[in-house]
Amino acid sequence: MIHIHPETGLIQVDEPGGTRELHLGTPEGFHLLSQLWLRSGWDNKYVYGFSWLGRPIIQLPDDMIRIQEVIYSIQPDVIIETGVAHGGSLVFYASLCQAIGKGRVVGVDIEIRPHNRAAIEAHRLHDAISLIEGSSIDPLTVLKVRESIRTGDQVLILLDSCHTKAHVLAELEAYGPLVTPGSYIVAMDGIMGEVVGAPRTQPDWTWNNPKAAAAEFAVGHPEFELIEPPFPFNEGAIRERVTYWPGAFLRRKP
Ligand SMILES: C[S@@+](CC[C@H](N)C(=O)[O-])C[C@H]1O[C@@H](n2cnc3c(N)ncnc32)[C@H](O)[C@@H]1O
Repeated sequence: MIHIHPETGLIQVDEPGGTRELHLGTPEGFHLLSQLWLRSGWDNKYVYGFSWLGRPIIQLPDDMIRIQEVIYSIQPDVIIETGVAHGGSLVFYASLCQAIGKGRVVGVDIEIRPHNRAAIEAHRLHDAISLIEGSSIDPLTVLKVRESIRTGDQVLILLDSCHTKAHVLAELEAYGPLVTPGSYIVAMDGIMGEVVGAPRTQPDWTWNNPKAAAAEFAVGHPEFELIEPPFPFNEGAIRERVTYWPGAFLRRKP
């Protein structure tokens, strides 16, 4: 049982060994409430309630701000994302590329539904977006992605397709070599491992998730490091991301 007393800021957590006391005004208190908020958001499908410049985007807004910080710091020439869905994330990255003044976006999906393709192709940012249809781990798809990269391009890769550990590991093996030094490959949606027992989850998600894939990939690939991207600005007390992407950022060492 958790008791929250907003008038004093006290949080009391009943645990097997006794009652733990935290305060709302501490990073530990914020962490606890954030974890509960993420879990409630999962149960309520909170991330299914946003759009970017007219296209639905299935992301936690905190993660969108954080990836914007990464994109601005990397200034990639090409952003490759597996998992297109409605195209909102592609439009989001394309809008950042336009604001920065460089960069284009390549989206890969096993099935780009005709109405989504039509909407993406009709979007005013479409010139910065290309679509590749096929499984992200099909060698032909990987070849098409390779061919979309030009010599000297700075490459950022985001993995948001099938989230099983095996699939994400296969994506990391296929796309890792395309990441340029100093840039990242991001295994999104490791939150799966932290919401087991919630609606629409599976018991094996405790280990069968993108975070586990990223951790295993890092062990076998010393050219990558699993790191937290630094906060470019922070005058607050919170040092951890509130995220659907824990343990996601694999940086290719410079
Ligand atoms: C979570 S959605 C992507 C959300 C999107 N990135 C966004 O932010 O709005 C996952 C997508 O992955 C696609 N997908 C599933 N398995 C795939 C595979 N093997 N290869 C490529 N895409 C796949 C699905 O068709 C679906 O559109």
